[in-house]
Amino acid sequence: MKLPNVGVIGCGVMGVRHLQALKSFPFVNVSSICDIDERRLQQLSVEYKVPKYYKNYNDMLSKENLDAVIIATPDGLHKDPAIAAIRLDKNILIEKPIATTLEDAEAIIKATRGRKGAVLAGHTLHFDHRYWGIKQMVSEGKIGNVVSVYSRRCNSIDQAERLEKFTDVIMYLGIHEADIVPWIVGSPITKVYAKASFIVRNKGDPDFVKVLFEHDNGALGVMELSWSYPSGQIVFQNSSLEVVGTAGMCSTSFPSTELIFFSNKQYSTIYHPFTRIYNKITGSLLNEELHFINCVAGNDKPVISLEDAYKALKVALAIKKSIKEKREINVNDAE
Ligand SMILES: NC(=O)c1ccc[n+]([C@@H]2O[C@H](COP(=O)([O-])OP(=O)(O)OC[C@H]3O[C@@H](n4cnc5c(N)ncnc54)[C@H](O)[C@@H]3O)[C@@H](O)[C@H]2O)c1
Repeated sequence: MKLPNVGVIGCGVMGVRHLQALKSFPFVNVSSICDIDERRLQQLSVEYKVPKYYKNYNDMLSKENLDAVIIATPDGLHKDPAIAAIRLDKNILIEKPIATTLEDAEAIIKATRGRKGAVLAGHTLHFDHRYWGIKQMVSEGKIGNVVSVYSRRCNSIDQAERLEKFTDVIMYLGIHEADIVPWIVGSPITKVYAKASFIVRNKGDPDFVKVLFEHDNGALGVMELSWSYPSGQIVFQNSSLEVVGTAGMCSTSFPSTELIFFSNKQYSTIYHPFTRIYNKITGSLLNEELHFINCVAGNDKPVISLEDAYKALKVALAIKKSIKEKREINVNDAE
């Protein structure tokens, strides 16, 4: 049997995690990786035993006989490699957010029309057992009608300093909440009112964002986002979701009180969503990757479409617009 041949475009933090997940499958061939950083490519190709590397994704797409491509370039740089791969009928997994503007997202969606490849939007929380569990409880009616949501995703300033040139906290972290909350509640977010503070880094993009939001079904929510917590305090994401219904509630938070590690310099949890066990990646990303490979093999259909990801992008853009215009924004008016 011919193994699906996969390439990764963008081999930074997330691209490497995808590489680790793919390399843990004996039924996948990773023939090539692509990044603009040649030294990184050289090192990764040796470490992960990937035969070929390319500095230009068009070269990789034309020279390698790829069945599937993972796109993990920075937030605003998904469009060009995605469209190039879609036009060649490749199956693609495109990292969240699919794009940072509606124009780019619409161009990607338009390029998929009439094309054969499966397209999965990489909203990894759909594959996280905790978020999946809450979704099941809500869908099965176990908490009654949802009336209130609290969602939170925060990280330390180290993340801002690593990524602020390319993106902002609303696109990088907030997009997860903008995607997962409506999915779990089963009702779109229709209105947002957001405020931000810019004091910690003073770079013109938000440090802390507080959002009041409303769902189509009347449920109300509060969202908190930040990537300006003190350095090293919370090594990985500090995230929560609480969903309250008329007959019960569900919640999850991370870091949880289980498996906490302290030293005199650091505090973190040993578990995180991409924990490695026996040097193999586990958790939500592995679940996502397996789903994608099943889509490539024709066994599954992508559970998160570009249209779903487009809706999340509209919520994120409405939050930005609300901060800028200092007023409540109808998500349909996001631009
Ligand atoms: N699903 C998740 O849970 C999750 C988690 C983290 C990041 N992400 C997403 O993954 C994407 C990458 O994030 P990251 O944290 O790995 O960023 P990163 O900056 O660490 O990595 C991006 C990589 O893309 C490379 N690159 C830039 N332009 C390129 C081009 N034209 N061709 C090839 N490579 C190019 C850069 O050199 C870099 O190595 C983002 O869209 C981000 O939002 C998703």
